[in-house]
Amino acid sequence: MSSPENERIVISRYGPPDVLALVREAVPVPQPGEVRVKVQAAGVSFGDVAQRANLFFAGAPPLPYTPGYDVVGWVDGIGDGVAEYAVGDRVVALTMFGGYARYVCVPSEWLVKISPELDAAPAVAAVLNYTTAWQMLRRVARVGRGNTVLVYGASGGVGSALLDLARYLQIEVVAAASKRWHSELRDVAALLFDERDPTSADTVRRFRPGGYDAAFDGIGGSHIWKTRSFVAAHGKVVAFGVSGAVKPGGKRRLTEVARLALLLGFARLWPRPSVELYAMDQKIKVRRQEIKDDVREVIALLAAGAIVPRIGATFPLREAARAHQLLESRTNIGKVVLLP
Ligand SMILES: NC(=O)c1ccc[n+]([C@@H]2O[C@H](COP(=O)([O-])OP(=O)(O)OC[C@H]3O[C@@H](n4cnc5c(N)ncnc54)[C@H](OP(=O)(O)O)[C@@H]3O)[C@@H](O)[C@H]2O)c1
Repeated sequence: MSSPENERIVISRYGPPDVLALVREAVPVPQPGEVRVKVQAAGVSFGDVAQRANLFFAGAPPLPYTPGYDVVGWVDGIGDGVAEYAVGDRVVALTMFGGYARYVCVPSEWLVKISPELDAAPAVAAVLNYTTAWQMLRRVARVGRGNTVLVYGASGGVGSALLDLARYLQIEVVAAASKRWHSELRDVAALLFDERDPTSADTVRRFRPGGYDAAFDGIGGSHIWKTRSFVAAHGKVVAFGVSGAVKPGGKRRLTEVARLALLLGFARLWPRPSVELYAMDQKIKVRRQEIKDDVREVIALLAAGAIVPRIGATFPLREAARAHQLLESRTNIGKVVLLP
């Protein structure tokens, strides 16, 4: 009988989606302290698209490397010294890199056990996207029932997680999304607007003349300046991405990154409303336990049916380039997932 083969996707060089290449190799052997996961679903994030465009500043591995922030799967190999997991356990992990694979080895302390009953795609959506959204709502902006917040990119993976968690937390949301999604999102936001509409800024201001309690902006760059103008003096802008700096085809606008850095510096001098950067890539290096606790909390909400991740599209692992094209095209809604 032939032994199983691993398949994984690598970013072979910076550039358009077709720089993603398939590598076939032996299944990896877990090192001491590691567990091998047979991947059922791997999340695709706009962060992967940014990495492919060479817009990642938290220390990616040298090229060629496998992207992929999160996986759900089954434990199918155990390294020396791992006592708390057994072959057959169902787990999720924030791998940060390496998720686009059939098999991935992960330090055992990165794993969270989940029920075998949970569907794979919603479970993986809960890992990066919902945990990012949960941390930003609860730990950074510290908003809750009775607050009103502004969410940009509401149709996307993190955006739809922010809306779903805000509904659960009874937070009122005003949300920016392309017009094509407004009928789909009608029930999950108090007000929807498309920034391409020239009257949208007035509409957003009129809805909350005193300013919003928080705003969540994954577009970054000069866009943050506009976002800040809608927020109350006591409120907070949470800057969590630079989608606006990524152009289709793997091209980048570094001036947008510079503008974000400038605003973050400026906001220290003029701190009301405050602007805070949220970057899980950095935070996980020093606060993995806290993030893991939040993954557990979000997975418990999923298991209880309190949150319902929106899955926009699934692709076979080998079609990762198509998944990236979809994200670049801004015609996706919800989480995009690879199924090895
Ligand atoms: N800080 C963190 O730890 C963290 C974690 C996860 C993700 N992120 C970041 O969060 C952002 C969203 O990630 P995601 O995976 O949710 O992406 P996604 O699923 O592609 O969603 C992003 C949404 O934003 C809107 N958008 C995209 N480009 C835009 C642009 N140039 N200008 C205005 N709107 C734009 C699009 O919605 P419409 O077309 O409907 O407007 C899109 O659906 C990315 O910047 C990503 O890097 C950060």
